[in-house]
Amino acid sequence: MLLKFIVALLASVSGVLAATPPGFEPGSQTSLIVAYGNVSALDGTVVGKEISQAVPTIGTLSKLDGTSFAVLMIDLDVPTDKPPKTNPLLHWMQTGLKQSSSATRLNTTTGLIDAFMFSLPNDVDAFAPYYAPNPPAKIPLSHRYTEIIVDTSNATDHDLANLKEAAATRLGFNAQSVLASSRLGDKVAAGNFFNVTNPGPVISTPTSNSTRGDDAASTSVSTPSPSLHTIGAALSQRESPMAIVMIGIALFIL
Ligand SMILES: *[C@@H]1O[C@H](CO)[C@@H](O)[C@H](O)[C@H]1NC(C)=O
Ligand SMILES: *[C@@H]1O[C@H](CO)[C@@H](O)[C@H](O)[C@H]1NC(C)=O
Ligand SMILES: *[C@@H]1O[C@H](CO)[C@@H](O)[C@H](O)[C@H]1NC(C)=O
Ligand SMILES: *[C@@H]1O[C@H](CO)[C@@H](O)[C@H](O)[C@H]1NC(C)=O
Ligand SMILES: *[C@@H]1O[C@H](CO)[C@@H](O)[C@H](O)[C@H]1NC(C)=O
Repeated sequence: MLLKFIVALLASVSGVLAATPPGFEPGSQTSLIVAYGNVSALDGTVVGKEISQAVPTIGTLSKLDGTSFAVLMIDLDVPTDKPPKTNPLLHWMQTGLKQSSSATRLNTTTGLIDAFMFSLPNDVDAFAPYYAPNPPAKIPLSHRYTEIIVDTSNATDHDLANLKEAAATRLGFNAQSVLASSRLGDKVAAGNFFNVTNPGPVISTPTSNSTRGDDAASTSVSTPSPSLHTIGAALSQRESPMAIVMIGIALFIL
């Protein structure tokens, strides 16, 4: 318990702290490092849409035990035609990931991070190829993109077939029931989320009957370049209040 606390403390001091967002199940408090180039996408930080167009690199601060992993990325905040009701949308599901046995030093917008990176397989197609974040100009403008790493070392062909079938329906993707029915509900090994925000203003489409609220609705919406702002925002989050509070608690205990 104390060890876990100290590990969490060190992680937060170095600016690296990631977990699934509150309320997301099955969640994880183990940091999943997610980076787009050198832009780290951790801890709910705001990331520019342009920056997140290609598959990120992912890793963990400690080597996990498993031999095979799946990554899932889910937008929890896809608008519907009945706001403020939202739907989850599966953005990415790739199985067959392997983890490096040695750490790589990443030079990112939140500093230097030593992480054990996952490599994507050459021979396994994604069950759901990567959809880049593209929040439409609808309520909510801010979307939480959640990533989880699932240990599939002991998954059977049947379990994986079940995952693949579930991945075919992206909208309304319920990670909890999908993973439970694939016998992977307790195999989430690390997690993270980041925030991509449409600059607005909200465009109302009262006559639309579309059920696809995320990317399709926004393809024609113009997109100013937020990259500089985003990097600034990421840097300013480096000294998070959480880290300061945890340092305070630690000093008090020691
Ligand atoms: C990390 O990147 C920054 C900006 O590109 C650079 O100034 C710095 O020297 C780099 N640090 C290391 C240790 O490579
Ligand atoms: C990130 O990479 C860009 C382009 O390679 C570079 O200009 C920038 O200095 C880097 N930032 C950091 C913090 O390493
Ligand atoms: C996989 O099975 C082995 C052998 O039973 C066990 O030691 C290991 O903890 C299992 N891993 C997972 C992620 O279930
Ligand atoms: C995402 O970022 C936007 C813009 O900074 C902010 O208004 C919003 O509250 C953030 N959303 C979450 C869930 O953190
Ligand atoms: C939406 O659905 C209603 C009822 O089914 C229908 O009358 C209307 O024409 C549809 N509108 C559009 C834009 O498809």
